[in-house]
Amino acid sequence: MYRLADARAVAVTQPWWQRGAIYQIYPRSFADSGGDGVGDLPGVLGKLDHLVDLGVQALWLSPFYPSPMKDFGYDVADYCGVDGLFGTLDDFDALIAAAHARGLKLVVDWVPNHTSDQHPWFSDPGRAHFYVRREEPPNHWRTQFTHDGPAWSRDPGRGDVYLHSFLPAQPDLNWDEPEVREAMHATLRFWLDRGVDGFRIDVVYRLGKDPALGENEPGRRHDQDWPSIHPRLRAIRAVLEEFGEEKMAVGEIYLSTQSDIARYVAGGQELHMAHNFFLLEAQWSAAAYREVIAEWLELLGERGWAAWCLGNHDHSRLATRLGPARARAAAVLLVTLRGTPFIFQGDELGLQDVPIPPDRVVDVDGRDPERAPIPWTAGLGAGFTTGEPWLPIDPEADRVNAAVQADDPGSMLSLYRRLLGLRAAEPALREGPQGWLQAGEDVLAFSRGPELLVAVNFASEPRTARLGNGHAEVLVATGDRTGGVDLDALSLAPDEALVLRRDERER
Ligand code: NOJ
Repeated sequence: MYRLADARAVAVTQPWWQRGAIYQIYPRSFADSGGDGVGDLPGVLGKLDHLVDLGVQALWLSPFYPSPMKDFGYDVADYCGVDGLFGTLDDFDALIAAAHARGLKLVVDWVPNHTSDQHPWFSDPGRAHFYVRREEPPNHWRTQFTHDGPAWSRDPGRGDVYLHSFLPAQPDLNWDEPEVREAMHATLRFWLDRGVDGFRIDVVYRLGKDPALGENEPGRRHDQDWPSIHPRLRAIRAVLEEFGEEKMAVGEIYLSTQSDIARYVAGGQELHMAHNFFLLEAQWSAAAYREVIAEWLELLGERGWAAWCLGNHDHSRLATRLGPARARAAAVLLVTLRGTPFIFQGDELGLQDVPIPPDRVVDVDGRDPERAPIPWTAGLGAGFTTGEPWLPIDPEADRVNAAVQADDPGSMLSLYRRLLGLRAAEPALREGPQGWLQAGEDVLAFSRGPELLVAVNFASEPRTARLGNGHAEVLVATGDRTGGVDLDALSLAPDEALVLRRDERER
């Protein structure tokens, strides 16, 4: 029977992963406690206060599992351990305890599509069926990296060929095989038992492939997004639910339309959220952004929930793609859209891609520039390491670092802190509806609940916007603007974004 108390209970139980931002840590490049030039788990623990001061809700750790590091940890040799480079399981337990003590949730990366070729399953004759093997390549599927090639390689030990959607050193698991599904569910339970709050699922749309291994066709891929993915995700969700209602799964999904992606989240039974890269890839224009955002919110409907992501370890940095001024406007959008913001480490400092000399290139796919170490302080090693860093430190690090920015109210770090502080203080930013306003050329504007308004000038020239009648107070601005504004003729500076509160009398 419906009772008022139930309605209130729903209102106060917005799950943690909808409330605040999730911060991605790429552990190799975050903080090195050991002096070997590679970041590690004790290094992350030592920087948790940065995350608390920033005001995020959770951290997501990119892979730290034992790995030959051909793809820097996305080639897992043991799903239930910690690579010696990053520390030990005890270090992981200490990190999760320290995070939880500070009210931070912890999400780990789960890489279920493929293992490393050094995973013991791959050379175990009793587990040949764990992988997709044939005598000869049955199709012309290609690998996914930029320098692509055939997705089949010969196993020198066995003489047959095996499928790999990425590097030959990353053989795909055979998800059609119930034993594989069970073994992988067990790895989820391993981390859930240790207290993790959720998973980011690597290339989740590749867990379903045509079991007949048919050729890709125009308009229909057979090597991904096969209908079998959906029962598999429901089963993964059921494993999470063995551990309560609040364990979260966010999946990485690259498909050609947002409606294809929505099928993974909108029903409320599969993923809680999807990283959809349409916004990251959109051209910087009010019209393009509005189209992507409106379509995604519409597709998700009442039961789905958006994740917003403008950067990660696979893409050129936001401030490099957009430039520093627009990156500030993008930060305002990211934190105020209805949904959960994901922040890639260093984007809160407005970091740029770091130029990598040819003799320092280490990644197979050109992703080193966005993975350069975080500059914490000025000086040699930038507070990241006392040793030789695995990738070059940003040449701007003496000027652009976390310590300098913490003391500068005009810095990107201060802007992010104000935005996340506002989100924490304003229920409308966390759960309020989002409504579009017709503000005028080049201006994207929307309301969050009855009081709050957001306006972003996508032009690098001044624009005048119309957000309604009456007055409003500036709550957060990309520049140093404070005080009141007129909503019927709001002058916006080039690249300016504002979060406003309508005057009470005029709501
Ligand atoms: C997506 C990850 O984000 C990327 O870094 C990795 O190379 C591929 N998946 C393969 O695991």
